[in-house]
Amino acid sequence: MMPATTPSATPFATPPLPWEPEIIAFCCNYCAYAAADLAGSKRMQYPANVRIIHAPCTGKIEMEHILDAFVKGIDGILVAGCLEGGCHFLEGNLRAHRRTDRIREMLAEIGVGEARLKMVNLSAAMAPTFVASVKEMVDTVRALGPSPLKEPQQLESEGTL
Ligand code: FES
Repeated sequence: MMPATTPSATPFATPPLPWEPEIIAFCCNYCAYAAADLAGSKRMQYPANVRIIHAPCTGKIEMEHILDAFVKGIDGILVAGCLEGGCHFLEGNLRAHRRTDRIREMLAEIGVGEARLKMVNLSAAMAPTFVASVKEMVDTVRALGPSPLKEPQQLESEGTL
């Protein structure tokens, strides 16, 4: 005799995962990437939802790189470069600061939120500052919620809809 089954019981169904922000960290090749690398070698924990993109210098990160990432639905971007006066290409980090400030203004104007983009300056030894900046960015973006530029299909695949 077959046991009675209840059609509504789905013992192996997994609940949808809570939404997690997708963050990009553009790190310059010298100080910022070295700080991120040092954090890794010291086994310092930081959120896994941050993808690091290695750039020669923050001055080489063009506005379209950042805007394109937002258009494609990224939730937040951290730009990490050398300390002021420490850029290996002299003024790359100063140019990057001006660019990020301009993009932050644009993000505020279009209602995306300027807090979704931040620039930090680090030395190669500042692994704890790198980790703290990443955690702060993730917390900030998590509080803001998904980017309003995300496509509905992206939200659906992330379990947000
Ligand atoms: Fe690090 Fe220019 S080389 S910001």
